[in-house]
Amino acid sequence: MLSPAHLETWQRDGCLVLPGFKTPAEVQAACQRAHEIVEAFTPGAQTSRFSTRDRSQVASAALLASAEAVHCFFEEEALDAEGRLRVPKPRSINKIGHALHDLDPVFQAFSHGPALAEVGRALGLLQPQVWQSQVIFKQPHIGGEVGWHQDASFFVTKPHTVTTFWFALEDATLDNGCLWVLPGGHRGAQGVLREQYVCDHEAGTLRMQPLDATPWPTTAEAVPLPVAAGTLIVFHGLLPHYSAPNRSAKSRLAYTLHATDASAAYAPENWLQRSAGLPVGGLA
Ligand code: FE2
Repeated sequence: MLSPAHLETWQRDGCLVLPGFKTPAEVQAACQRAHEIVEAFTPGAQTSRFSTRDRSQVASAALLASAEAVHCFFEEEALDAEGRLRVPKPRSINKIGHALHDLDPVFQAFSHGPALAEVGRALGLLQPQVWQSQVIFKQPHIGGEVGWHQDASFFVTKPHTVTTFWFALEDATLDNGCLWVLPGGHRGAQGVLREQYVCDHEAGTLRMQPLDATPWPTTAEAVPLPVAAGTLIVFHGLLPHYSAPNRSAKSRLAYTLHATDASAAYAPENWLQRSAGLPVGGLA
């Protein structure tokens, strides 16, 4: 599946773009299922909880619960000060996470298979552990910016092994908020981990811990990755990346998986932990 040229690109850039990795039928099934999950979601309880004063605490409780569930999270701009929806529900969701790949049959099928396992293996994931899945909507007009970050901040292992699988479920363009990456930014001075998302599981609290003051790239040095639906973008956990807000009239659905390798120690302070009831699985 991956040629020597692919592997050379991976080593050099920390990023690989594989057009047509998923068929139109697979993409269509995933999009349809994402919309069904949103349709079935009852926002009442969640919106009222967002209106409480201790928003951060409630948000972290919802996030932690989603490690072993399928939750819908709102766009920040979708809710007014009282936590009421400002836009229709189908347009209000920022993402669905974080165990679709294990709990939802459609996304379970999308997230596993020999092709995906082979890509993982070729890039060094010999014993992949898929911790997280997300449908990211990037809604028309209100789809929020995702600031520069490294995914390894959220999935610390020793050594770093987290790898991101980013599937375009719709065309991603400069207008609707495609990914931007710094090619080669996983290596050398740029490839240092700048911050770590630390969870105190007893207290149920989360914080971003600064680790290194290396500045984030800018869009002047980075490159955009506009891709067609069905494309798989794989990138290294230390690769800085960003996506702009979506002010266009088109959504930009994407589906992501984050996998580490079982040979590396998974940090106990990572927010996403699995219980014995839902053990972490692989890509095959
Ligand atoms: Fe990311």
